Amino acid sequence: MTRQLILGAVFRALGAFPSGWRYPGAHNDPLRDPAILRRTARTAEAAKFDYLFFGEWLATGADLEFRDPDLLARIDPLSAVSYLAGVTKRIGLIATANTGYYDLFTLARQTASIDRLSAGRAGINLVTGADPRAAANHGRDPLGGAEPRYDEADEYLRALRLLWDSWEDDAFLRDRASGRLIDPELLHRTDAAGAHIRVSGPLTAPRPVQGHPPIVHAGGSSRARRLAGELADVFIVAVSSIDDAAAVRAETTARAVAAGRTDGGPRVVTPILPVVAETTAEAQAVYDELLRLVPLADDQAAQAPDFPPNRTIRALSGIVGVPLGTPPLDDEVPLRVARRFAEGGQRLLEAVQTRTGRRIGGEHPVTYRQLLAAHTVPAAAVVGSGIEVADHLEAWFGSGAVDGFNILPPFLSGQFEAFTSLVVPELQRRGLFRTEYDGTTLRDHLGLARPENLHVADVARRTA
Ligand SMILES: Cc1cc2nc3c(=O)[nH]c(=O)nc-3n(C[C@H](O)[C@H](O)[C@H](O)COP(=O)(O)O)c2cc1C
Repeated sequence: MTRQLILGAVFRALGAFPSGWRYPGAHNDPLRDPAILRRTARTAEAAKFDYLFFGEWLATGADLEFRDPDLLARIDPLSAVSYLAGVTKRIGLIATANTGYYDLFTLARQTASIDRLSAGRAGINLVTGADPRAAANHGRDPLGGAEPRYDEADEYLRALRLLWDSWEDDAFLRDRASGRLIDPELLHRTDAAGAHIRVSGPLTAPRPVQGHPPIVHAGGSSRARRLAGELADVFIVAVSSIDDAAAVRAETTARAVAAGRTDGGPRVVTPILPVVAETTAEAQAVYDELLRLVPLADDQAAQAPDFPPNRTIRALSGIVGVPLGTPPLDDEVPLRVARRFAEGGQRLLEAVQTRTGRRIGGEHPVTYRQLLAAHTVPAAAVVGSGIEVADHLEAWFGSGAVDGFNILPPFLSGQFEAFTSLVVPELQRRGLFRTEYDGTTLRDHLGLARPENLHVADVARRTA
């Protein structure tokens, strides 16, 4: 069988595009999130996605309205996956948690419980960065720089696995005759006492169905690549080219090998934001409409005090390195102006061209609005027909640089359903994606073996 790609569906109720909620027919009411949550989960499971993925954000404020409206107010990730454990049957359920703010013992219990409730479908995305306002919400000092944050995450992750392994798989004797429910020899303390993490254990929940629910890490720095290489099962990384992805893969694999891992290191997954329709022209029209709906400061729309300062033609002039004056946003960028663009401007032109097929002086020309939107909404958009988007995924996957994709629908439900009805069948036709689930756990879907209990392995090593 051809190697299969990993597809995760990122749930963002208001859409992953900042103007998604304004699109006609899109979900736009946070008070009705449970309905869209159920619907998206069922659609993703029917399309045989590996997992649903829930990011988290630990603070809010009116400024998020324009930058990332989906972060304003939403159902928290662990609650969402607990709920979906009962609403779905096969799809994996990955919640995000912050190692600086989530109590380790509590998180170990919650994830072990969700894994049990879902019969082995839980995963946890451990992150270390956060909105600076989160500290005040958790009664803590702001998180430190990358080094202490990642040192803490390293200890956290190791101790988490030991806590999950508190009970050996067959610790429950259930012997009615002798009256012994458990074998106390098969119960282990953790006794972690590091610079950041102290926890004694044992855990008050049985060993998870998967042994260890898959640990995901999402981060951008070299410390993130080290943590993922040494300890994560899946690494989610935002990259702008196949070459960048290949470099990330090479680094994490080298870290994995150096750390003595024998499984080749983490699966590498990258986020993309597909804008899909039956034809290229229709997909471009959806994307153009999403761009038109992004409020820019030059429009009447954006007079709010928290409006992001980078959304003006003046800010754009700074990026492209040429004074642009005050042209109407929907005017075409003339060739004589584009020729003088500095590197930043060339990069934006390239981004517009690869996402939309538009080019300066072409049949579909580039407008100032498109340049500005490419700058303010940096998500890795891919715009096209089902076949074109499948071509894009196949090119990345086929290069060997990534194992799969976190799909970020620009809005719900229309665009997610366009992806599942137009792109997924095309990937299946090419033999790149499953047509049925063949395993029952998230580890099965991701092709990860069930790990041995670390306490047992430790005893075996010492005895040997
Ligand atoms: C694709 C991706 C998704 C992420 N999702 C979240 C998230 O949901 N919540 C969060 O607090 N941080 C999230 N992060 C932020 C990372 O944890 C990280 O702090 C940030 O990328 C900065 O990188 P660094 O931690 O390596 O310095 C995400 C990062 C990436 C690359």
